[in-house]
Amino acid sequence: MKGIILAGGAGSRLYPLTLVASKQLQPVYDKPMIYYPFTTLLEGGVREFCLISTPQDLPRFRQLLGDGSRFGVTIDYREQARPEGIAQAFRIADSFIGQDPVTLILGDNIFWGGDVFTRAFGEFKTGATIFGYHVLDPERYGVVEFDSTGKAVSIEEKPKQPKSNYAVPGLYIYDNQIVSIARDLKPGARGELEITDVNLEYLRRGRLQVCRLERGFAWLDAGTSSSLHEASAYVQTIEKRQGIKIGCPEEAAFRSGILSLAQFETVVNAMPNCEYRAYLEGAVAEAKRR
Ligand code: G1P
Repeated sequence: MKGIILAGGAGSRLYPLTLVASKQLQPVYDKPMIYYPFTTLLEGGVREFCLISTPQDLPRFRQLLGDGSRFGVTIDYREQARPEGIAQAFRIADSFIGQDPVTLILGDNIFWGGDVFTRAFGEFKTGATIFGYHVLDPERYGVVEFDSTGKAVSIEEKPKQPKSNYAVPGLYIYDNQIVSIARDLKPGARGELEITDVNLEYLRRGRLQVCRLERGFAWLDAGTSSSLHEASAYVQTIEKRQGIKIGCPEEAAFRSGILSLAQFETVVNAMPNCEYRAYLEGAVAEAKRR
């Protein structure tokens, strides 16, 4: 499974924070926002990444994550010259996707809890798999409606009168049909290539699976100053209580077997002395005791 991380957009809702660094580079408690979605895909075993961002921001992401070898993966960087919608990512990444299935995650989506995505990647065969998450304000998102048997019957992008409270989070899994579907897509009402139109095309073909994320799973938004602050507080609460980190890609690469213990230790030893390094040294020491 190939992985695309889309970290585009102007981040205008976070102005002036985003004057010099994009939204996905802002701190969420103790790490840059992009670490969280990157970790979600690493935990799921993705090893080939394509990171898409604006021409201004792309060099910063490259500076942050490099060629991926630190995490035992490869990262291709591609520009989205103009913000023309999430589905444009599949056109930009066309040659990266090749003949494979692909997952796309939005660079500002933070997920925590369970192994639902790892299982979804492992079990995925054909069609499309997306998710539904109960929220208070569905009108801000793509909204999925289910019939009485739990089957998805409609999806609407930011509807004024949502048919359910189930929002579609920014993690999507597609078979290789996505390449031609994205190629043939027409811009929607706001002039963008809408991811909801991609999902509707899979629904029309009878190939869309919508998996409801159960209670106990966290999907956090970090797109406004207050939701960014709340996401930080959430991460801090869990990390302080449990002594484990959320969104730590080096640890995820080690725990999912992408980095060997020796490689993991080398990566940790190259870090400056800081709380992040101390945490990872703890993980190395624990692995050596086992
Ligand atoms: C986008 C999608 C929407 C989805 C949301 C998840 O919205 O268009 O369907 O529910 O991401 O974060 P946007 O961030 O462009 O407002």
